[in-house]
Amino acid sequence: MIRINENYLKLQTSYLFSDIAKRVAAFQKAHPDREIIKLGIGDVTRALPRVCIEAFHRAADEMGNDATFRGYGPEQGYLFLREKIATEDFQARGADISADEIFVSDGAKCDNGNIQEIFATDIRIAIPDPVYPVYIDTNVMAGRSGDFRDGRYDNVLYLDSTAENGFVPNLPEEPADLIYLCFPNNPTGATITKDRLREWVEFARENRAVILFDAAYQIFIQDDSLPRSIYEIEGARDVAIEFRSFSKTAGFTGTRCAYTVVPQTCTAYDRNGARHALHDLWIRRHTTKFNGVSYPVQRAAEALYSDEGKTQVKALADFYLKNAALIRREISDMGLSCAGGENSPYIWVDGKGDSWKFFDLLLEKAGVVCTPGAGFGKCGQGFIRISAFNSFENVRKAMSRIREAKLF
Ligand code: MLT
Repeated sequence: MIRINENYLKLQTSYLFSDIAKRVAAFQKAHPDREIIKLGIGDVTRALPRVCIEAFHRAADEMGNDATFRGYGPEQGYLFLREKIATEDFQARGADISADEIFVSDGAKCDNGNIQEIFATDIRIAIPDPVYPVYIDTNVMAGRSGDFRDGRYDNVLYLDSTAENGFVPNLPEEPADLIYLCFPNNPTGATITKDRLREWVEFARENRAVILFDAAYQIFIQDDSLPRSIYEIEGARDVAIEFRSFSKTAGFTGTRCAYTVVPQTCTAYDRNGARHALHDLWIRRHTTKFNGVSYPVQRAAEALYSDEGKTQVKALADFYLKNAALIRREISDMGLSCAGGENSPYIWVDGKGDSWKFFDLLLEKAGVVCTPGAGFGKCGQGFIRISAFNSFENVRKAMSRIREAKLF
């Protein structure tokens, strides 16, 4: 008899953003004349930077000619892109990362979800609450959690991120093996200072743990004193894996390109206490299960590192940050407290009630889609996340509709 992976039965019925999409579609069906403004899932709305389009055209021409055509590429990604990433994203900021430590992929979501495969199933995971649901869901699927009870899974060490700690979790009082951190944070928009990040790196070193550092939103950091990469912290190379994405940086949500950094010195242990390089495990996994990102997409990503590309990327980030500033201002004028939006495209609003009720109210009364905070964890209850990814006009319209609906 064929049997299922029963860990899937522990999961909530659907993935947060699929659930929201279904609710929005049902609402639109029931109210076909209502214009809905989506400030829910962080999906970008601006066109790709011009440099990418030009690179795509050139790469498409190469693919159309036998002499320059490319078949399977290197699974780890083309060296022309990995070298740019290593020098521009890391070495230029004093982080000691080389091209052979970069793994180009089709998305940070996939990498964040897949990476847990290279670790044992009976390890203790520490996960912030609230946080991007992929971290917890993929560990539940792999059997690292107990049952879901009272808003949380058993056997998981939750790291509370609340207004009291500025949405930056404190170090746990018990050991953990695999620690997820995400800064600028999804969903709270909170950032972490170098000093606080150093504490986490030291904790990981002392506990022989590994940190999975999700930096998908680093492009939005405005405050230059804040770290963009965990490798700006000394010693992090030995205990941290970092995830980056071109999705929010350059509008690649539909184009698909991201990368993961697994330093050669980052290790974990077998049951006998012998150390193994995670780089070797990840390369083994990657080459077996992944055939690389398409050549034109990697050429388009490479183009972002030219001087023109950098200017166009900055313009994109500035555009969304202007939206974020407007949302923050409007929310504060309504007398509500919020976090994020300054070094992040997400604004985390304390609605002081039930998150899903706020979600429904916002949709019904203002025709605006947000993301209910409770979907990111128990500590998210009472909050909603508003995303700055839309046109300025739509953001302005959404905020005036919310104001006029007098929901708060
Ligand atoms: C979000 O809205 O949290 C993100 O867009 C989801 C993602 O990047 O997968």
